[in-house]
Amino acid sequence: MYLELKNISKRFSDAKADEPDTIKDVSLGIEKGELVALLGPSGGGKTTLLRMIAGLDNPTDGDILIEGNRVNDLSPSERHIGFVFQNYALFRYMTVFDNIAFGLEVQKKDKAFIKNRVHELLSLIEMDDFDQRFPNQLSGGQRQRVAFARALATEPSLLLLDEPFAAIDSKVRKELREWLRNMIHEVGITSIFVTHDQQEAVDMADRIVIIKDGKLEQMGNPYEIYKNPRTFFTSTFMGDSTVKESFSGFTGFPDIEDGSKIVIRPEYVEAFRDDNPKFKNMIPFSENGTVKDVIFRGDSLDLILDVNGVELKTKRSLERRPVKKGDSMRVIVYRIIVYGNHKNEVLKNEKLKNVDIEFI
Ligand SMILES: Nc1ncnc2c1ncn2[C@@H]1O[C@H](COP(=O)(O)OP(=O)(O)OP(=O)(O)O)[C@@H](O)[C@H]1O
Ligand SMILES: [Mg+2]
Repeated sequence: MYLELKNISKRFSDAKADEPDTIKDVSLGIEKGELVALLGPSGGGKTTLLRMIAGLDNPTDGDILIEGNRVNDLSPSERHIGFVFQNYALFRYMTVFDNIAFGLEVQKKDKAFIKNRVHELLSLIEMDDFDQRFPNQLSGGQRQRVAFARALATEPSLLLLDEPFAAIDSKVRKELREWLRNMIHEVGITSIFVTHDQQEAVDMADRIVIIKDGKLEQMGNPYEIYKNPRTFFTSTFMGDSTVKESFSGFTGFPDIEDGSKIVIRPEYVEAFRDDNPKFKNMIPFSENGTVKDVIFRGDSLDLILDVNGVELKTKRSLERRPVKKGDSMRVIVYRIIVYGNHKNEVLKNEKLKNVDIEFI
């Protein structure tokens, strides 16, 4: 385990007596070389957690361990951590070269070493010819890359990035995500980045830590979190969920009318026409539905369906036969997640157990 947080709590000194702690008993471990996303809604405590790992803030309770050693009392520079801030915070009056060289200058490395290292990093971020530019002569994406190079200059063993893409528009942001992910894996540095964008976390991270109201909601790889959300919050935060208070009249499922919350994701729902030969043996397990709306999403369609009075959503490939509002379709629900008062469970469609469903 490279980094461990053990029962970390944080209470800012100006907190009122009846205010809960900002961070509440968070424990987690991160392996060497992992790229971890801290994901959660605004105000949840992501930056606070990152700042405590960096040593810019202290926990009120709990221990921070790096390679098994307690680092609570070490200064940021003693922790060998690189930090990329939310707004990149490049030094405006310094050239790209001097920005990247900053940490090495502080360490009083000799000139030749610094020059070498900065050019190595410029080449890594594919900005060899930009060394004499100033930050205001760069695009947002380029500034971001310089911030990344600056954070890596002193060869930290842990890289922390607080919403590294926040100020960048969506197309460049997607390219940068990929770039950063590859770069981090290439350098092999253990990294934690903060985001409140689910897709960004899923696209980039080896593991995701979901933080809400200062508490760890769930930690796991993106697939696990997507497939088995442990809390109601996680299941609605990740993915495009429909939430219902009741669910009845569906073959393969018990009626649920006790006020539990029922989460149904688009990928749990299949809609097909009753003359589709591929689904012929599925008809006995399907419900009758009506298309209430068709929304074009660029790479697919969203179908909104009315099934037994329940509104369900599913995605439909543009390659399949077109459907329009008012069409009737057969609808199968594979699974639902039920968040009850006492327990949460994933219910699978009972009827599908014995069916050869190779299309799932
Ligand atoms: N120095 C501080 N003193 C007092 N309260 C603080 C301080 N810094 C943060 N907080 C409070 O702690 C809570 C968590 O803030 P934090 O910045 O960690 O959230 P976040 O998850 O990073 O949010 P965002 O996504 O908006 O950046 C907030 O309620 C915030 O007001
Ligand atoms: Mg923040």
